[in-house]
Amino acid sequence: MTPPTHAEAHARSLRDPEAFWAEAAEGIDWSRRWDTVLDASKPPFVRWFPGGELNTCHNALDRHVDAGRGDQRALVYDSPMVGRVETFSFRELRDRVAALAGALRDLGIGKGDRVLIYMPMVPEAAMAMLACARLGAIHSVVFGGFAARELATRIDDAQPVVILTASCGLEPGRVVAYQPLLEGALEIAAHAPRRVVVLQREAEAFELRPGRDADWAELAAAAAPADCVPVQATDPLYILYTSGTTGVPKGVVRDNGGHAVALHWSLRHVYGMEPGQVFWAASDIGWVVGHSYIVYAPLLFGCTSILYEGKPVGTPDAGAFWRVVAEHGVNALFTAPTAFRAIKREDPEAKWVGRYDLSSLRTLFLAGERADPDTVAWAERALSVPVIDHWWQTETGWPMAANCRGIEPLPVKHGSPTRAVPGYDVRVLDDDGAELPAGETGSLVVALPLPPGCLPTLWNNDDGFRSAYLERFPGYYQTADAGYEDTDGYLWIMSRTDDIINVAGHRLSTGGLEEALAGHPDVAECAVIGVADSLKGQVPLGFVVLKAGAEREPAELVSELVDRVREQVGPVAAFKRALVVERLPKTRSGKILRGTMRKIADGESYTAPATIDDPAVLDEIAAALAKE
Ligand code: COA
Ligand code: AMP
Repeated sequence: MTPPTHAEAHARSLRDPEAFWAEAAEGIDWSRRWDTVLDASKPPFVRWFPGGELNTCHNALDRHVDAGRGDQRALVYDSPMVGRVETFSFRELRDRVAALAGALRDLGIGKGDRVLIYMPMVPEAAMAMLACARLGAIHSVVFGGFAARELATRIDDAQPVVILTASCGLEPGRVVAYQPLLEGALEIAAHAPRRVVVLQREAEAFELRPGRDADWAELAAAAAPADCVPVQATDPLYILYTSGTTGVPKGVVRDNGGHAVALHWSLRHVYGMEPGQVFWAASDIGWVVGHSYIVYAPLLFGCTSILYEGKPVGTPDAGAFWRVVAEHGVNALFTAPTAFRAIKREDPEAKWVGRYDLSSLRTLFLAGERADPDTVAWAERALSVPVIDHWWQTETGWPMAANCRGIEPLPVKHGSPTRAVPGYDVRVLDDDGAELPAGETGSLVVALPLPPGCLPTLWNNDDGFRSAYLERFPGYYQTADAGYEDTDGYLWIMSRTDDIINVAGHRLSTGGLEEALAGHPDVAECAVIGVADSLKGQVPLGFVVLKAGAEREPAELVSELVDRVREQVGPVAAFKRALVVERLPKTRSGKILRGTMRKIADGESYTAPATIDDPAVLDEIAAALAKE
């Protein structure tokens, strides 16, 4: 039988989603089969595989050991930061995870309890996620580059019983001590976890507080291994917070059943992998890419996954990625375009590539931000493998648009993530919700129901889920991206429709940055925009208006603002620039014209909107930028 084309697979997935995903669900071990594949009886909420029972950790580890894969590499930790490579077979990883799960169980953790994981890129972080899954507990990983206040917001929303952390993270030239960040967060947060479990790393010690803190190694060594606890397919596996339009992050919920089915399916069909092969997502477990493609998908599918604690450049050089590919036999590499821009900047002739044997590498996948055609073309020339841009979000958990390598490889068009992936009915709508013809830019939406693996709701916030994603265009999930579809059905993702900016593949809310600036005692009002940056794609730029009577030396004030954002949001915001201005451009109703400010800052042509209160303010902004 000839395999289906992309168009056929996509059409079938939309015509009969239940049959399509029931077939995909055969790739997962269920302790009880589902009653129905899709329950859409309570719109706009849908549930995949209700009645089904499974355990995600069993599917990621135990069943591979049972099936004879026990000696295969499951996880390879490669850290140029500490100069160490550690390899865990599926059997070893299962045993380590079972011991940690036993330790968590001894601390009283069970089904439905939240466990917050605030950790650097060490194998114990992945073990912690899997140990929670083993017990049916719900993990919430917080990225190590976030500061105390961001951590506190997530602690208060998720209300974890236990926090798992480490003594430090390692950034080039800097040890990031976690204790001050964690203590700072716990001081701000109203919720207090019952226990804190600390992984001590050599570079920095964490002073354990008696009664509250426990040593990770001691706890795991003393515990009896825990078995997998079956959970409902619809039970949450994790909560992952992501930036919304305000400073309050949204708790994206992922269920167990749909997630396992979709991720397992994606590894073969989207990424073209086979069990036993080596997948490397060069991201961080604090982001959705890390959840889905460092931890869950490769393990669910029986692949080896690489967990890399390092950077694309500087650890120690621009050949770092190629060393990892060659040393571990990586077959598919997934990272953000910004990593390639960093490598290209240091090694424009791609000289480092020739120093390694990259014959194992078949495909490079890029996502997290728009893949600019120059970077894609450079990567193709440097690596001589297909470079596949694909489009997705924290909310969906796996790609919405891709050139599906395991279905039908399609011609690559630089700048487009190719076509909607099976399961996703992507449309382009105008402001009135009418569908736009090919070539016209509008809001990118997905007709409901979303496929398995996508968020069923926000944590404890069904109303927020409805209002953020489903109300603007009834019957559709709003991605908050804008773009168009061309006459070949290829999607082109051009910008966000909200005030989210994308800094080095990291998603940030300008609203959150503005909150940090507005809290400064001398600031009357402010605006933050994302401006183009040749390395990071975008970087934030602040504009502040001083309070009447505040006499401040601008350079000094800006440095205070930079420190403030670093302390409140975190270094990952890469907030380095701010300008003091007399006024902000606004509409007559008082809305700040951020879009026009961005055009001025990026040197694009612009016209003053008809609703502007005073067009002269735009000239003042242009003058302030020119003077900077
Ligand atoms: N813990 C603490 N601090 C962190 C951190 C972490 N986990 N991750 C980043 N930071 C800090 C960095 O040290 C840096 O601090 P600095 O201002 O003191 O230099 C700051 O946050 C900004 O980090 P980053 O955006 O990573 O910039 P960079 O200049 O250090 O490196 C790149 C630039 C392009 C090399 C880097 O962004 C990169 O590797 N990106 C890969 C893309 C990626 O991982 N995307 C995720 C989605 S796929
Ligand atoms: P995050 O939730 O952090 O993964 O960020 C998701 C957002 O990143 C999307 O809504 C897009 O704005 C952007 N994004 C992700 N992948 C792509 C891509 N391939 N092309 C363009 N933008 C992308």
